[in-house]
Amino acid sequence: MTLWGGAFNEPSDADLRALNDSISFDKRLYAVDIEGSAAYAAALSLAKVITDEEAAQIINGLEAVKAEFDEGRFQLQVGDEDIHTAVERRLTELIGAVGGKLHTGRSRNDQIATDLRLWTIDALHQVDALVAALQEALIAVSESHIETLMPGYTHLQPAQPITAAHWLMSFFWMFARDRARLSDAQSRTEVLPLGSGALAGSPFSIDREFLAGQLGFEFVSENSLDAVADRDFVAEALFALSMIGVHLSRLAEDLILYSNPAFGYITLNDRYSTGSSLMPQKRNPDPMELARGKAGRLIGNLTGLLTTLKGLPTSYNKDLQEDKAPLFDSVDSLTLIMPVIVAVIRTLKLNPERMRAALDESMLATDLADYLVNKGMPFREAHHISGRAVRLAAEKGVTFTRLTLDDLRGLSDHFSDDVSAVFDFAASAARRRAQGGTAPEAVREQIARARAWLTDEGE
Ligand code: ARG
Repeated sequence: MTLWGGAFNEPSDADLRALNDSISFDKRLYAVDIEGSAAYAAALSLAKVITDEEAAQIINGLEAVKAEFDEGRFQLQVGDEDIHTAVERRLTELIGAVGGKLHTGRSRNDQIATDLRLWTIDALHQVDALVAALQEALIAVSESHIETLMPGYTHLQPAQPITAAHWLMSFFWMFARDRARLSDAQSRTEVLPLGSGALAGSPFSIDREFLAGQLGFEFVSENSLDAVADRDFVAEALFALSMIGVHLSRLAEDLILYSNPAFGYITLNDRYSTGSSLMPQKRNPDPMELARGKAGRLIGNLTGLLTTLKGLPTSYNKDLQEDKAPLFDSVDSLTLIMPVIVAVIRTLKLNPERMRAALDESMLATDLADYLVNKGMPFREAHHISGRAVRLAAEKGVTFTRLTLDDLRGLSDHFSDDVSAVFDFAASAARRRAQGGTAPEAVREQIARARAWLTDEGE
């Protein structure tokens, strides 16, 4: 028997049930559903809607149902439309008619909204811990490469020498923002919908502050229509998860490029790369490609949910059942990919000689312009003279730094023999020591601030 069959003469069609039922995916909410129900039973007894003894019976019964789920003993039955139906059906089998009192003043509308918020809070905490582990791994590799030089790129064109730690640490701060977004999304998820009924509120004197306290919610919803329909928290969670996906994808893209033999800057550990079934020499960066690929899924889940929400009339509509699949999928996808990426970073081997060999002397052209600026020339003019030097070198068929002092003095009489100090990659990086720059000195401070961030804000 269904929970709502009273006014119907015919049982629902099997195809309708296949479409309508959500038990196949919402059964993973059983623990939060039961937690919400136990708190609700306590609230009903406080409101004198049920006796203390009835509440105790219900709560004990719920614990027994939970044990069946925990131990994989729970038997789903035809008619178990969703997790709420299944739990109540089994509760009533176990404790008798008193089980039927639990749903007084409650609707599955405020119930699912409560369940999903509880589930999301926990899931975002778990994702946050995974991102924190990645930040730790990034710091650990960076610490061994504070002095390692590599080409820095814009437009993927060689731009200026940077330190490898500086490159890796750039991702630390992306993930710091992602964690701030997760915690921000959490704060708006911590609002209790329970006690809103189907849409209009509860006619029983349910103490909603008490319920919020029991379930660990920070706030109580202010409007019952909004409470049963609000899925902003899912959209925000999906955005925060997508942004993590996008950052992982960008990290993955760098690692894919840099592990290509044409770059050769890094070597992925054997355990985290795969071979080709045909070409024995290949080392494929599959985990990175999957990270990049899964970002597409995460973004799809976000846009799918937003599209579901956009045309809905006031309060609950069954369309909202479509919130769970994308949320679960995004959390599951990150839960799968993150530990692998953390391990990839932890075991990442950098090849400093390959990085250094890729430094092109023309990457010091800005330094040459800065040299002239230090001699008093306006930067615009200095930029032009340095460009002329690059061209002159090309015409003479020598590398830029092989120009003689006479060559340079032909371009500007600001040049003197101290110019040779400019032609040094390490010195170029070391000059960029203003806060946030690539100089080893600045990167050491950056890493110290990153560590402080992890202890202060990331706890
Ligand atoms: N399975 C439903 C969902 O996920 C639960 C709420 C059903 N409410 C209703 N009035 N049929 O949204």
